[in-house]
Amino acid sequence: MAKDSLTITDNRTGKTYELPISYGTYANYGASIPASELRKIKASEDDFGLITYDPGFTNTGSCRSSVTFIDGERGILRYRGYPIEELAEKSTYLETAYLTLYGELPTEKQLDDWVWNITHHTMIHEYVKRFMEGFHYDAHPMGMLLGTVGALATFYPEAKDIKDETAREKSIWRLIAKMPTIAAFAYRHNRGLPYSYPDNDLSFTGNFLNMLLKTTELRYEPDPILEKALDGLFILHAAHAQNCGANAMRGAGSSHSDPFSATAAAAAALYGPLHGGANEAVLRMLNQIGSKDKVGEFVKEVKSGTAGRLMGFGHRVYKSYDPRAKIIKKLADKVFEVTGKNPLLEIALELEKIALEDEYFVKRNLYPNVDFYSGIIYQAMGFPVDMFPVLFAIPRTAGWLAQWQEMLLDKEQRIARPRQVYVGSDQRKYAPLKERGKESLVAHS
Ligand code: CMC
Repeated sequence: MAKDSLTITDNRTGKTYELPISYGTYANYGASIPASELRKIKASEDDFGLITYDPGFTNTGSCRSSVTFIDGERGILRYRGYPIEELAEKSTYLETAYLTLYGELPTEKQLDDWVWNITHHTMIHEYVKRFMEGFHYDAHPMGMLLGTVGALATFYPEAKDIKDETAREKSIWRLIAKMPTIAAFAYRHNRGLPYSYPDNDLSFTGNFLNMLLKTTELRYEPDPILEKALDGLFILHAAHAQNCGANAMRGAGSSHSDPFSATAAAAAALYGPLHGGANEAVLRMLNQIGSKDKVGEFVKEVKSGTAGRLMGFGHRVYKSYDPRAKIIKKLADKVFEVTGKNPLLEIALELEKIALEDEYFVKRNLYPNVDFYSGIIYQAMGFPVDMFPVLFAIPRTAGWLAQWQEMLLDKEQRIARPRQVYVGSDQRKYAPLKERGKESLVAHS
């Protein structure tokens, strides 16, 4: 009779242990054993017991989550059960953010209230603006964003009351609403432009474009195609399971720090070139390649290890084409109708073609990820390269907050504190300063 358990024999002792197997929504995806059960497996009485060793958490479930589902083998991504393709086509970013956070698509009234609440929290305190003025003129906007969002914690001390649902909700509105404002201020700071305040009559992305690009006109009117395209890109970036940023959000939030501080931690994790900074790195890489005929040579260099990694390729979870990259590729055509084609697209398409046929990439299941084409669109829309990770962080805030709230409400969750396998010295005797290094002096004399 089949049983939902795993029997382990410890060959050191000959003892046998039975561990329960539990499942999530799917029996064939995410079956797990509780790691804590392994502690019962001991070689002797004074043995601490077994732990799992999993650098980079490549095969460790850190939580039960109902926010996003990814099947990396089949290239499936769903937010709360809804396929990403359908959301990208039919939803808006704010509706998707609501879905991500509350688990259901909103009713008309819920959506109106939600949009109103986000729209009416877009302003930032003048002192936050002054805080931002202190950054160097060429400070990276992502550094400004993550520093400033952390600073917001000092403006909203009530956010520390994470057990209070109302306080949590207000922090959620504030964070989703203020990230674009901070991002736009960072952009204008770099350009020495006066800050442009939010316009509550515009959509979420329309207002963001207004805060970025408004100059002397009385009222900024966003291009509807670009406004919609940016909204679509925001939907694609809203959430993505236990990625490095979400893990940082949960990790920081697990000590019960306030959500502004935890978001700063998540943004810091996103900033790296292996994660949300990859879109910036892709653009730099395409510029470095320079032309379509140099692509083959560049791929050779990647394989030989002399040109670093092929940025925008590969993913921890996707072992097939990232479904978001497919959607972005289609979105690009719409954007290029307005902006004209980005000449880097030709290089990117050639790079994808060569890489997808190359044994090195095929063998390792390396396909284009979300960051491969997003930068090309952002650049065509006029964004400078160092704004790209910021454009990732704005929509991902919804996903971070969904993970944060889910973690707080999950009774199984505790402070995130992994174990380690100690490989350092055994106990040593402290040597007085004058007696240190004598052995090496003797060796060198
Ligand atoms: N170019 C060349 N080789 C690669 C690449 C790449 N982009 N990615 C992985 N590999 C190779 C890697 O060298 C290793 O080869 P080998 O087995 O011979 O040592 C193998 O593929 C497995 O790589 P890994 O580093 O063990 O895989 P990982 O799951 O730890 O890393 C990743 C995932 C996304 C960090 C990695 O694929 C990468 O560095 N990609 C480039 C950066 C990038 O595009 N990041 C964005 C990720 S998607 C959006 C996001 O998360 O923000």
